[in-house]
Amino acid sequence: MHLPERVKIVEVGPRDGLQNEKQPISVATRIKLIDLLSDSGLQVIEAGSFVSPKWVPQMAASEEVLAGIQRKQGITYSALTPNMVGYQRAKEASADEVAVFGAASESFTRKNINCSIEESLERFRPLAEQARADGIPVRGYVSCVLGCPYEGEISAHKVAEVSLALLEMGCYEISLGDTIGVGTPEKARRMIETVAGKVPMDKLAVHFHDTYGQALANIYAALQTGVAVVDSAVAGLGGCPYARDASGNVASEDVLYMLDGLGIHTGVDLGKLAQAGNFISAELGRESNSRVARAISG
Ligand code: HMG
Ligand code: MG
Repeated sequence: MHLPERVKIVEVGPRDGLQNEKQPISVATRIKLIDLLSDSGLQVIEAGSFVSPKWVPQMAASEEVLAGIQRKQGITYSALTPNMVGYQRAKEASADEVAVFGAASESFTRKNINCSIEESLERFRPLAEQARADGIPVRGYVSCVLGCPYEGEISAHKVAEVSLALLEMGCYEISLGDTIGVGTPEKARRMIETVAGKVPMDKLAVHFHDTYGQALANIYAALQTGVAVVDSAVAGLGGCPYARDASGNVASEDVLYMLDGLGIHTGVDLGKLAQAGNFISAELGRESNSRVARAISG
């Protein structure tokens, strides 16, 4: 069976993880979490989000977070940017990379960013152009790739179409998001293979939420198709405020434990990753959502 030799883990905890928390989280805590994650060997950390603070209050002050972290050489500190206002904020905050986020569902796109799929792509295009001129890489997210909280089933061809549009406007990587965690491995495999008919496999990443406990199995299926970039959130934090059924992302510690067990290189240290996860879980006053972190932390 063919599996990639190396996998890049994209740590989305400080963004996808914290954006959905009900309790206030201080800038200092967000900074400390990122600094702990920086010590674990991760290459990419999504550090914040330059969206409207009225829409997602937890991500307000992402400028302060990016200004306060101790940047380590070799780590990409990225941020979400829904439009040019967000892009300018991210650029001024010296984000190393930005991410635009679309979806394969019209209803979700409307709820999440208040426009149609077509309008969202029109909005992202000048952003991607400006980022290219500024030398800032752009990642593209596609949400609802295996189901939508408002529309149910989503066609893999629609996922492929939106992914291709993002690729063509200059996104160097397309992250396929199972926003509400409804996917199962065979469905995930078929969806990825359909998308790979339009977008080269080495440009694809997977982003699974673990609502139905399928995320690790889905990631394993994705690895078998040749995907070698996996998004996850330390301590299994997370969820999207505009998808009522979205629970946390798959836990980074659990993903890493599986990859280590498969002999796949990531460069990430499990003990240090778990320390970061345990820190944020303690700050939030609850047990980590990572089974592995709980097991190794006794
Ligand atoms: P809108 O209300 O249609 O925007 O929101 P607007 O352009 O009409 O502006 C309204 C107000 O927001 C104005 O201020 C703007 O200046 C301000 P006012 O005049 O009312 O005082 N504004 C901004 N302020 C700061 N930063 C900005 C910004 N843009 C406008 N960038 C908008 C449209 C896109 C802004 C809004 O819908 C929004 O911010 N949505 C973000 C939703 C979000 O962050 N969702 C979670 C992330 S996606 C996710 O989690 C899924 C993912 O993990 C993958 C997966 O799991 O599938 C990525
Ligand atoms: Mg997400």
